[in-house]
Amino acid sequence: MRILVINGPNINMLGIREKDVYGPYSYGDLLEYIADYCNEEKINVNFMQSNHEGDIVDAIQGAYEKYDGIVINPAAYTHTSIAILDALKAVGIPAVEVHISDVENREEFRKISYIRNACLTSISGKGFEGYILAIKKLKETQ
Ligand code: DQA
Repeated sequence: MRILVINGPNINMLGIREKDVYGPYSYGDLLEYIADYCNEEKINVNFMQSNHEGDIVDAIQGAYEKYDGIVINPAAYTHTSIAILDALKAVGIPAVEVHISDVENREEFRKISYIRNACLTSISGKGFEGYILAIKKLKETQ
């Protein structure tokens, strides 16, 4: 199984940004954590992170016929981006939305997700483990 993990703006600032919300661990720690799990499970995983909406759209389009699943934390674009929603719908690759923090219990604007409409499920508030739970969900589609 081939999985692409996409992280949106400011996820590369983990370990520095709002530690009370996102925890003390870095983006590098996150990648290591996911890669270790995928190695054990013999899953082929690749990562991309961008602060730019169009680059995320390009990455989703580029995943067409190359990946069997997408794990996506679109970060702030979750709450604004119809372009990312449309890209996920266009490629039709099974996708799971992940948020490190519990977006349902923060500001009102974080309760809105455009991306959710193109995802099998949405996982939030489980910290880094949410990414592993997302991969497990995608494995069920195989
Ligand atoms: C986030 C939640 C978003 O609301 C926020 O804009 C982020 C991170 C999360 O992982 O909890 O940047 O997606």
